[in-house]
Amino acid sequence: MSFHIGAKKGEIAETVLLPGDPLRAKFIADNFLENVVCYNEVRNMYGFTGTYKGSKISIQGTGMGIPSTAIYTNELIDEYGAKTLIRIGTCGSLKKEIGLGEIILAISANTDSNINKIKFGGMDYAPTANFELLDKAYHKAHELSIEARVAPIFSSDSFYDDNSDRYKIWAEHGVLGVEMESTVLYTIAAKKNVHALTILTVSDNLITGEVTSAGDREKKIVDMAKIALEII
Ligand code: HPA
Repeated sequence: MSFHIGAKKGEIAETVLLPGDPLRAKFIADNFLENVVCYNEVRNMYGFTGTYKGSKISIQGTGMGIPSTAIYTNELIDEYGAKTLIRIGTCGSLKKEIGLGEIILAISANTDSNINKIKFGGMDYAPTANFELLDKAYHKAHELSIEARVAPIFSSDSFYDDNSDRYKIWAEHGVLGVEMESTVLYTIAAKKNVHALTILTVSDNLITGEVTSAGDREKKIVDMAKIALEII
């Protein structure tokens, strides 16, 4: 086992879906995979391996935020040989017209975190999705009649903020959604020469204040899971 994952070598597939919420990992495993084995219960951060249309696939919860995501991403790659990592999560919309339930394929992930500033000695790195995965996801979504748009996102270090204007500058520069994880997933994947992509559903709109109901959120998780599973 690794520091935070209780699996033995070989128990995790080369392709791993990464929902933030471990119960979403269970939901997807229960609803989409066959021959499911739960390989991790450490910290209740469930991880499952099963098969989808005959292909071995794992689904690992990452928790919320950059540090937690970095821990699971590092260990999945270094200790278990993961080669393709697809985050499926939710984001807040930064534009009035990007409504609840819309799907965003994150081409790049900006951040207010210092993690890359420290790594790159104060310079700015541009964390970017793997193009092949992005291209496949975009076309697969359309094939499945699921509307999905490709856009840059913002990985924030905070969910609650005193300054309600702080997202404005990002929206003005074409950034459509805010979440809290992808910037580090893309950076680690680049460094370790593996493929990564983030697929997001808009769960709330920071301009209008609208929030998705739990039922609608579940339906959209299904859409994201379908896109991710079908491109593997
Ligand atoms: N902010 C940050 N992360 C999020 C949000 C949000 O509004 N919605 C979903 N993830």
